[in-house]
Amino acid sequence: MAYETILTETRGRVLLITLNRPKALNAINAQLTAEVIEAATGADADPEIGCIVLTGSAKTFAAGADIKEMQAADYAGMYAGDYFGEWERFTALRTPIIAAVAGYALGGGCELAMMCDFILAADTAQFGQPEIKLGVMPGIGGSQRLTRFVGKSKAMEMCLTGRMMDAAEAERAGLVSRIVPADQLLAEAMRTAETIAGMSLPIAMMNKEAVNRAYETTLSEGVRFERRVFHATFATQDQKEGMAAFVEKRPAAFKHR
Ligand code: HXC
Repeated sequence: MAYETILTETRGRVLLITLNRPKALNAINAQLTAEVIEAATGADADPEIGCIVLTGSAKTFAAGADIKEMQAADYAGMYAGDYFGEWERFTALRTPIIAAVAGYALGGGCELAMMCDFILAADTAQFGQPEIKLGVMPGIGGSQRLTRFVGKSKAMEMCLTGRMMDAAEAERAGLVSRIVPADQLLAEAMRTAETIAGMSLPIAMMNKEAVNRAYETTLSEGVRFERRVFHATFATQDQKEGMAAFVEKRPAAFKHR
């Protein structure tokens, strides 16, 4: 399908999705939502794709939900249409997804980055939940995910003041996994994605599911879940291959089964 708000490119086993509404600073409207979800869902269903990278431009990852699209909305329409509820399809995807963030990741843009599995940040990245300045609040998980990432105090301050957090603060707070010089962000994100895509896909999915479970359950249930899934890795051919490769001192050639 020809997309209008994103660019997609498959490099080896990695799908790169680039948000591409430059005139609106990649504001997230209904079309961009549908296109990102369709592209990512297609990759998720394709065993030849082992990782997805989601990025924006050098200036902006995404400046939030499209304010001009939302401006005239009313409660009944938002509620009945479950405005932006479809992003739950994105967070249900099982293929690992890296957000490579340069520049602004504000409002829905910060929320989109947080819906990915981890965030690699350029040193130019700026994160914020400025919705309160518009008389609204986060609506795609920001109040919940930001709080889990950075704790109550910082999340509360960010949501109540709308102030931005730079890359260094975001790294200190645990929002991003690493900071990369801006001119190396995409290359580093692709390298990281290729590393992940070189692993066994079902085993990567199990790792993703287990880490995500930490956000949904108690420690004892999470540890039990992890142990059961760990046991299940021994039902795969890739466990045999991975351990044989180690013992034979050669790289593993995973078959994704
Ligand atoms: C629609 C947007 C936009 C947005 C920028 N633009 N952000 N359009 N929705 N979220 C448009 C501007 O209107 C402008 O269009 C063009 O992009 C360039 O933006 P400027 O403001 O001129 O750029 P700059 O001065 O560099 O400032 C960059 C910025 C600022 C700091 C990122 O644009 C900004 O504050 N944007 C809004 C950020 C925000 O409040 N996000 C939260 C949105 S609410 P024209 O046509 O004038 O050139 C949200 C809710 C989530 O995300 C929950 C939903 C369910």
